[in-house]
Amino acid sequence: MTNALRLGIAGLGTVGVGVLDILAKHGEAIAARGGKPVKVTGVSARNKTKPRGNHNLSHLEWHDDPVALAKSAGIDVFIELIGGESGPAKEAVEAAIASGKHVITANKALLAHHGVALAKAAEAKGVALNFEAAVAGGIPVIKALREGLVGNTPKRVFGIMNGTCNYILTKMGEEGRSFEDVLKEAQELGYAEADPTFDVGGFDTAHKLAVLTSLAFGTEVNLAAIKIEGIENVALADIRNAAELGYKIKLLGVAVNYDSGIEQRVHPTLIKRGSPVSETDDVFNAIVVKGDFVGDLVLEGRGAGAHPTASAVLSDIVDIARGNFRPTFGVPAAMLKKYKASSPRAHEGGFYVSLDLHDRPGAVAAIATILADEKISIESIVQHGKTDSSAPRAKAQFILITHDTLESSLKKAMERIEKDGHVAGTPRVIRIERF
Ligand code: HSE
Repeated sequence: MTNALRLGIAGLGTVGVGVLDILAKHGEAIAARGGKPVKVTGVSARNKTKPRGNHNLSHLEWHDDPVALAKSAGIDVFIELIGGESGPAKEAVEAAIASGKHVITANKALLAHHGVALAKAAEAKGVALNFEAAVAGGIPVIKALREGLVGNTPKRVFGIMNGTCNYILTKMGEEGRSFEDVLKEAQELGYAEADPTFDVGGFDTAHKLAVLTSLAFGTEVNLAAIKIEGIENVALADIRNAAELGYKIKLLGVAVNYDSGIEQRVHPTLIKRGSPVSETDDVFNAIVVKGDFVGDLVLEGRGAGAHPTASAVLSDIVDIARGNFRPTFGVPAAMLKKYKASSPRAHEGGFYVSLDLHDRPGAVAAIATILADEKISIESIVQHGKTDSSAPRAKAQFILITHDTLESSLKKAMERIEKDGHVAGTPRVIRIERF
């Protein structure tokens, strides 16, 4: 009988247990698909006594130190489910590669920071560095970009890449609940990262976007080039206003391959209702790839949670069992192009701007003049009546949608509007994405 592929799993949290669940249920089918049996022979986790579903782990090699598991002669594949861009996860992955083990990781932070160096090390050792679970949970977007779409050079890759943020924005919109309240629920459901700032601050999306950009455009991973804005400041009022105008607000990661270079950004975005992305709600993710030959492709599914993420880990395991190794970022790491940022350009899709106006004669005219001065064209306007008509300086909410415009012009206009005394508070600006 063919020798079994021996797995060592470091990190037995929800995803690690999810991998054990799938192997317990589909072990035979996986052996048939991979051409050999697959079994877990070693594990590493902080807590030895914590119950892990119905799984009996007492017969497995146990290592307190993931680096020791990574180097163990008892495993062929090291599965890193620890997380974190440095520390034990990085040390263990490096140790596994150095000792000739294939590596599977769900760690987008590690890849976004050290992906190219790790890919070079893995290639030099002739081992796989697979990471289907690192981006968009159960959606096979890595395989799609690395294999199915190799005939294309995509022009744009974007989408909802963080289940926690999508869950929060969806529930805020549907149930009128506060950001904090829904975040707490997302954490209880096991969607959020250990530190939820990674989710709500947009960093998790940025990690994933950096990896997708490299795969899609064949360039070195460049996390530092991403402009990142999270969802912490999205107000219920913005979600309601957007709905009234026929939009939803989603946290998007967007990468565009222009002739002048690449643009990468993560931010809350208005997107027209009725599109596959705007209708992707709750913990679901949706990634759009605009291929130059295939056209538009939308991949939608569960982007977080134990079993969807474990499903992606299994795809990497079976690839290794089959001997299906591909370069980590689609081309040999030494052939990845140097990253070049695009020159500043008008934001295609325009902006949503919400202003709290002191409701008095001349306020709207003053704003219109400043926008005209900065060459910003208005597509539509909505005004909500006075919030408190008895107050001496009653306010009105004034919402604008602009045509495509330079971000620098909009910023300048907002600074001028804020200074000229007609608005109370800071203008709220959200980009619009066309799809
Ligand atoms: N915290 C992540 C999310 C999990 O909410 O999408 C998967 O990376």
